[in-house]
Amino acid sequence: MSEVFLAVLAITVLLVLVSALLPLAERISLPHTLLLAVLGLGLGFLAVGAEPSAGMGLVGDLLRGLNQLGLGADAYLVLFLPPLLFAAGLAIDVRLLLDEFAAVLLLAVVAVVVCTAVVGWALFAVSGTGLVACLLLGAIVAATDPAAVVGIFRDLGAPRRLTTLVAGESLFNDAAAIALFTILLDMLIGGMALDFGHGTLSFLAAFLGGAALGYGLARLACAMIARWRNVPVAEVTVTVALAYLSFILGESYLGVSGVVAVVSAALTFAIHGRTRLSPGTWEVLHQTWAHLEFWASSLIFVLAAMLAARVLPLAELADLGFLAAVVLAALAARGLVLYGLLPGLTAARLTQKVDAKYKAVILWGGVRGAVTLVLALSIDRNPFLPAEVRHFVAVLATGFVLFTLFVEAPSLKPLIRLLGLDQLSPIERALRRRVLALSQASVHAQIHATARDYGFDPALAAALAPMEDENSGAVPEDQSIPEELTEDERLKVGLLTLANRERELYLEHFAMGTVSPRMVGLRVAAADRLIDRVKATGAEGYAACAAESVEHRWRFRIALWLHRRYGWSRQLARTLADRFETLLITQLVVRELVRFNRRSVRPLLGQITSGRLRQLLEARLSLIDDAIDAVDLQYPSYATALRKQYLARAALRFEDAEYREKLEESLIGREVFTALQAELWQRRQALEQRPPLELGLALTEMIGRVALFAELDRARLETIAKLLKPRLAMPGERILRKGAHGKAMFFVASGEVEVALSGGPIKLGSGEFFGELALLTKKPRSADVTARGYCHLLVLEVQEFRRFLRGHPDMKKRIEAVAQQRLAAGGQAQGD
Ligand code: CMP
Repeated sequence: MSEVFLAVLAITVLLVLVSALLPLAERISLPHTLLLAVLGLGLGFLAVGAEPSAGMGLVGDLLRGLNQLGLGADAYLVLFLPPLLFAAGLAIDVRLLLDEFAAVLLLAVVAVVVCTAVVGWALFAVSGTGLVACLLLGAIVAATDPAAVVGIFRDLGAPRRLTTLVAGESLFNDAAAIALFTILLDMLIGGMALDFGHGTLSFLAAFLGGAALGYGLARLACAMIARWRNVPVAEVTVTVALAYLSFILGESYLGVSGVVAVVSAALTFAIHGRTRLSPGTWEVLHQTWAHLEFWASSLIFVLAAMLAARVLPLAELADLGFLAAVVLAALAARGLVLYGLLPGLTAARLTQKVDAKYKAVILWGGVRGAVTLVLALSIDRNPFLPAEVRHFVAVLATGFVLFTLFVEAPSLKPLIRLLGLDQLSPIERALRRRVLALSQASVHAQIHATARDYGFDPALAAALAPMEDENSGAVPEDQSIPEELTEDERLKVGLLTLANRERELYLEHFAMGTVSPRMVGLRVAAADRLIDRVKATGAEGYAACAAESVEHRWRFRIALWLHRRYGWSRQLARTLADRFETLLITQLVVRELVRFNRRSVRPLLGQITSGRLRQLLEARLSLIDDAIDAVDLQYPSYATALRKQYLARAALRFEDAEYREKLEESLIGREVFTALQAELWQRRQALEQRPPLELGLALTEMIGRVALFAELDRARLETIAKLLKPRLAMPGERILRKGAHGKAMFFVASGEVEVALSGGPIKLGSGEFFGELALLTKKPRSADVTARGYCHLLVLEVQEFRRFLRGHPDMKKRIEAVAQQRLAAGGQAQGD
């Protein structure tokens, strides 16, 4: 049989085995990777021990195939690492990751460096092997595998951001560890001494270069896909190529980190690719990648464990002592990061506080996986390294992975029990009882109704209900709200229920087709943030988060700055349109929450709590309403256009449902249905584009609205237009500060500003001007001036102001007259 046949035979049998282990792992509740390691070690020993002879038939071929698969760990890296990392990058919640980005990056990169250093020096001290080799081992064992911890966090309902933190950390520490590994390996092979400056520079170059490469390639893939539309198979295939190309181009052609390139490509694609894919393809893509990841991670693990079986028999007694040193040093390094570095990040407000119990789980759950094994085994096969270094690194790293797999991973669950993390809190227990009582009451009523409908004896129904409560053995009769909870606890439960419902509602709107995929991504991430905040600080967190959500974000501030500084307004128009769309959807959902609170939360938590929840929701709604009103006032036609688009999307959905119903009832045939669907698809495409927001900053139009310039002829208007600059002011923005140096005066083209005078505020509206006094009198600003909504202003800077007065004496006279009046009024007001 040819070699290819043997390899395919071995791989397919392996795939059957790894699949069968998955349900087994669930049944005996052990990590899948642990079983894979057992399988790999077993097969490895078998392949080494049993020399296949000619008469063994299929089994002999299988053994030969398995032996042949030991093609070397380098090949595994290229084959399996890209899909592994790409899938992990796609699966992570990028919005939450961006929230925690600084913390994740610091944790990942710094933790890898700390682990490399601590493990390296500890081993150097006890073993007497060269420092660079010891550091290399440190880098190899720095890459963590998040699967165990993430799975457990999910079961426990730990805050979502913690899962993101752990998964994100592992994603980047793989990248960092491999980048460091490559540099140290080069040093070792080149026989160079440790050079920190050079090492750091190469590390940074590899990391940043990889990130840029991945970003560029992913954007290229997005652009390609955007042109195709509706060829899901091709779209998904391009992502597979993207993963491998990023790796290979980075590693072999550009000399940057291929691993970082893959991670960066995956994250970029997760952000930008989603809206470029045809509808429905995102799910297909996720499923495909989930399969690829499963195959890659299982195969890499078994194959690496098989190779490990060859390495382990070489271990000596002394290695056991060194292994103990590695274990202790690795734990100490992780502890240093968790207990030394993380609180610092919390203090710097880069991340929220992490509960001590969860920290313990993260510490002990630093399980090492396939990446570490493969790196270790690639060292074992590296012909350029001295035999004792190869042996030392391979044995210790393999031993360490096995330790984390066989000792740490299985003891995570007992640890969680010990910490009491698996206990339902008193809140959850009380709630569980309440839900049980309510549901049973409803089941009871339904059984009775059914019995009545069928004409059964009511006694039959009575015998069926009540059901047994598995814990107390009796049905909770008590129909009142859970009394043992304090009012604050009940409020917290209520807020969590509302926040979770909010998340669901966004997804429901998305399923209806009314909300765009990009928007739903943003909103769901916002709801996740809200859930985490409520978990951390209850009602206070909810209110703070609600207030923050209507504030202008940093993206908006950057856009505004670009508009002010360079007069660029496209970015500003886009962020403003985003903001308005966000506000409209949130308003819709919060209104639904008010109803949900009345209908479903009140029976669960009682009148008082639901009343307080209503107050919080109403406060939130009024913030949103105000923010929407401000936009509505300045851009009424835009508000209408967006609302119309929303309705049109809903209409499409209804139409679609109608056609399907007609098809099912055989009122129309398949051909008609297909034609109708094609037409719907086109209309849906047209609706995907959001109507553009016109900021209305066209200069001539704005000048036309200022009373002072009303009667001027065209020629003069044009000379004046050259002196003026348009500017958009935000609601509540302080345009002038009392006491500041005057640099410009302003004309209000539309909107309204408020002058805070000591005698009480004065409003200046469309056509009026302000800020002239400081320029005329050369004194500081006489009052604060604040925008009352979105305001379109025309700015006349001080040099242009002088030129303007010189060139237009009639204007000068009129401005000075108004200024005189204001000075007199101000004098009076101050004299009061
Ligand atoms: P300036 O002093 O440069 O900055 C604050 C501005 O508020 C001032 O110019 C005037 O344009 C405006 N202002 C001051 N007093 C009055 C007033 N009594 N009525 C209207 N506007 C005023």
